[in-house]
Amino acid sequence: MPNEQDILKALENIYAPGGVSLTRAVSGIVISEGKAFVSLTGDPQKSQPWEVARRNAEIAIKAVPGVDAAIVTLTADRAIGSVQTSHKHDHNHDHDHKHAAQPSARHSTATSSKNVRFMIAVASGKGGVGKSTTAANLALGLSAQGWRVGLLDADIYGPSAPRLFGLNKKPAVEAGKLIPLEAYGVKIMSMGFLVDEKTPMVWRGPMVTQALMQMLNEVKWGELDVMVIDMPPGTGDVQLTIAQQAALSGAVIVSTPQDLALIDARRAVAMFQKVETPILGIIENMSYFQCPHCGGRSEIFSHGGARHDAEKLSVPFLGEAPLDMRIRETSDTGHPIVSSEPNSPQAGVYLGLAAKIKTLLETQKRKQAPNIIVG
Ligand SMILES: Nc1ncnc2c1ncn2[C@@H]1O[C@H](COP(=O)(O)OP(=O)(O)OP(=O)(O)O)[C@@H](O)[C@H]1O
Ligand SMILES: [Mg+2]
Repeated sequence: MPNEQDILKALENIYAPGGVSLTRAVSGIVISEGKAFVSLTGDPQKSQPWEVARRNAEIAIKAVPGVDAAIVTLTADRAIGSVQTSHKHDHNHDHDHKHAAQPSARHSTATSSKNVRFMIAVASGKGGVGKSTTAANLALGLSAQGWRVGLLDADIYGPSAPRLFGLNKKPAVEAGKLIPLEAYGVKIMSMGFLVDEKTPMVWRGPMVTQALMQMLNEVKWGELDVMVIDMPPGTGDVQLTIAQQAALSGAVIVSTPQDLALIDARRAVAMFQKVETPILGIIENMSYFQCPHCGGRSEIFSHGGARHDAEKLSVPFLGEAPLDMRIRETSDTGHPIVSSEPNSPQAGVYLGLAAKIKTLLETQKRKQAPNIIVG
């Protein structure tokens, strides 16, 4: 199993634009099951030579024994040479690379974090469990508590934000940056705004990560209290790249009560733990069925599995959202329930979850502050 030093060594003799060793531009390394995820911090004004350096880095890293695949991404926040040294992981380094950036196994790229107080990912191991519905309603819930909120739809294969918020405009561009669209007071960016719905999205792996980095770095979010990232389903390369690259304050895992979804939820928890992102908690979605006629509650999928798993995994259980027709209808028609029926019991569920998450973030901030690196 290769380690961070092996990766740095492979990059030692590759030169970054400006003539310094590429090791000085490394801002994060994560190695997982033969795959190396490496982020480089470069000057966005020199994107062409940096793209060349990025490709060379991938080739060099792929040649390291034990590495099957290399995924190298460029981020743009800090000037080369000012890469923050890692704190927790220094004991892993043999200090051979005195002039090299000491990468942290944790994401240290702090994308957009200058203006964004907290960044949270809403994720799941399994598809279709209600991440996007939950992310949208949580974003609206956080906005209802007075926070300035952004929602980044990171599911670039199957974006949901256009449908959930009834948005089909193209975002404007100002000074080379995309201006997010806005709905119900929340700023929103999605690959769905940039490409026609009918365009087949045949993205190759590296293009996907580049597109995501662009959505993180090249969008004019302005000042935000929180950015909610609606993650694509699963725990593959794209997910790990976002988890590593976005300076996440925490992750919210959505699961349904069924065993299979729970197994995948555990995988998602493990993925975030690997990159040392705190798990804010698990939400059980479609937990019970709320009858629209009699108001009665049926526990179709033997609810409570997610709470049980959260306890076993020692991560907080945040709460449950019902399987409810109004939740589906409102999100399918572009008016998520928290915006269209804010006084309904269903909206109350999301408002309660949002309040919990807000409190968790605010109280966690003191502990987490050193990990959020501002360029
Ligand atoms: N609590 C709920 N009650 C009723 N319907 C729901 C609920 N949550 C989600 N749905 C519906 O289930 C479908 C899938 O939800 P959603 O798109 O939010 O899932 P997802 O996890 O984001 O999916 P994907 O993995 O494809 O990104 C949607 O039609 C949505 O309206
Ligand atoms: Mg989704």
